[in-house]
Amino acid sequence: MEGTKKTQLIKPRIRQILSKELPSGLISKLPKHWVQIGDVLILPLREEFLPYKREIAEVYAQVLEVKTVLRKGRILGELREPHYEVIYGDDTVTVHRENGILYKLDAARIMFSPANVKERIRMAGIARPDELVVDMFAGIGHLSLPIAKHCGARVIAIEKNPYAFKFLVENIELNGVQDRMTAYNIDNREFPGEGIADRILMGYVIRTHEFIPKALQIAKDGAIIHYHNTVPERLMPGEPFQTFRRIAREHGYEAEKLNELVIKRYSPGVWHVVVDVKVFKV
Ligand SMILES: C[S@@+](CC[C@H](N)C(=O)[O-])C[C@H]1O[C@@H](n2cnc3c(N)ncnc32)[C@H](O)[C@@H]1O
Repeated sequence: MEGTKKTQLIKPRIRQILSKELPSGLISKLPKHWVQIGDVLILPLREEFLPYKREIAEVYAQVLEVKTVLRKGRILGELREPHYEVIYGDDTVTVHRENGILYKLDAARIMFSPANVKERIRMAGIARPDELVVDMFAGIGHLSLPIAKHCGARVIAIEKNPYAFKFLVENIELNGVQDRMTAYNIDNREFPGEGIADRILMGYVIRTHEFIPKALQIAKDGAIIHYHNTVPERLMPGEPFQTFRRIAREHGYEAEKLNELVIKRYSPGVWHVVVDVKVFKV
């Protein structure tokens, strides 16, 4: 529990330094949790702290020994891009180490969710070395680098955003998997492969169901699809599998649910869920 002990010591130290600069009523409300990606910190700062944001960020940076501090904002749009404000430092590109993988990214502009860590680790043991895996929403290789690195499987990683793609290509090199991982900077709906994949990653939310027909086209008969989506709690546990099966049947496939995991709370009453589905042509 090294990390916990360290955090317990850090919090009083931050409060002690800032108590000289902030009104006393604010000290007990300072953020108690933060996300660290490489040497960049993402701090959730409420409105009332904004007049002091620079002083606060500087103290967190010094105590936690990071080069840059971002104010946490929202992740928006088709490409799931973060809108985070830089409040200390200027370099937002960093290398994050996790489970023996190096992830280089721009923490201000590319999503890297600490809550998805279990899924990234699960992927490291999911595939056999003789599989061909297609990652339809690769990002910087969040889920597919662990497969290439730790399972030794071949991976095709598709990423539409040119900026995320640049880091994906760098990460393939950084992790030494260029012999088995290839990246394409295209919209996955334009990917020409048909009936080729043993396994497909659909690490996306909100509109993932729109991409099911494309995933079926890329899949081999009997392939496994890791289908992520966001689901209102009142529709669980039937969803998201029911929608997947309905769309699969409309396209001449049967779907068998192998496993289902809740990844994280996405918003009030809505959960990010992944279902492992085996698909067969009928
Ligand atoms: C939310 S990120 C998730 C990254 C990773 N799959 C994970 O689950 O941690 C989704 C990525 O999909 C990319 N994306 C969105 N629509 C796409 C499309 N039609 N084709 C290819 N990539 C797409 C976005 O640019 C973004 O980098």
